[in-house]
Amino acid sequence: MPHSLSAVPTAITVHAPSKVNLYLRVGELRDDGYHDLTTVFQALSLGDDVSVVHAEELTVTTTGEGANNVPDDPTNLAARAAIELAAWAGRDPSAAITILKQIPVAGGMAGGSADAAGALVALAQLWKLDIDRDTLATIAAKLGSDVPFGLHGATALGTGRGEQLIPVLSRGQFHWVLALAREGLSTPAVYRELDRLRAAREGAHDEPLPPDDLLQALAAGTAARVAALLHNDLQPAALSLQPTLRRTLRAGVDAGALSGVVSGSGPTCAFLCADEESAINVAAELSGAGVARGVRIATGPVPGARVV
Ligand code: C5P
Repeated sequence: MPHSLSAVPTAITVHAPSKVNLYLRVGELRDDGYHDLTTVFQALSLGDDVSVVHAEELTVTTTGEGANNVPDDPTNLAARAAIELAAWAGRDPSAAITILKQIPVAGGMAGGSADAAGALVALAQLWKLDIDRDTLATIAAKLGSDVPFGLHGATALGTGRGEQLIPVLSRGQFHWVLALAREGLSTPAVYRELDRLRAAREGAHDEPLPPDDLLQALAAGTAARVAALLHNDLQPAALSLQPTLRRTLRAGVDAGALSGVVSGSGPTCAFLCADEESAINVAAELSGAGVARGVRIATGPVPGARVV
């Protein structure tokens, strides 16, 4: 007898974007172990797909880019998202979550956060929860500093530990080339390295450019101006832990990018290019230069985690 179609569980799939920090200023270490930030996030077209179906128990299976390095136990951020959302709803966190990874693992592009944001949106629909965006964002912030931005997407100014967001007007499409590193970097280790470097300089701080100029450049959609204003306080710490990234950053600019920056806590390097054609050329040249494990092209801004 043929199987009835209704017996096949329907999967809900959510596409969740990666991010690059166009601007990241890190304040002092707080008592809770976090640092206050001022950051400008942009969501990129490189993203993960998170699918969920009803199941007897909570499981997470990861395939794709770097899947071997993603935990499949409850420490997985998507599993934690399921547990937190189920607790809010007063129900079992039972669901089978499948993640198709494209975002580099431990790459400074909020891959784990994207998966958590994706799981929240997918499970809210699967479990037919009546939950508003603000409540979802509050749960997201519990899971990690970058998870609210995974829900928000587009371009946003982040403060607090990065979880408090204000939308930023951004005109047009920006063309990025991403150079993936051979080894990942741990976010806490990069923040620790920044604290160490700052302590060694006896509290001396660079005065980073205020983001006002960058916000104006984004509103005008001028890639060259945005490129000149990219800034990341975590970059010296990431370069200190992975000195070869200097060569990667140089290679991208030599290949014709407008400018390059370490993405978040790294080690992915993000290069802003003048247009799509330039991005294709930069990507090809970077691939040949042997300075990266892989090269990706992406555009931004794109929406936050959403059902596809
Ligand atoms: O919030 P999330 O779990 O992604 O943060 C991972 C780690 O990164 C924190 O435990 C902390 O060491 C560091 N961090 C920080 N300040 C922030 C965000 C993250 O020091 N604003």
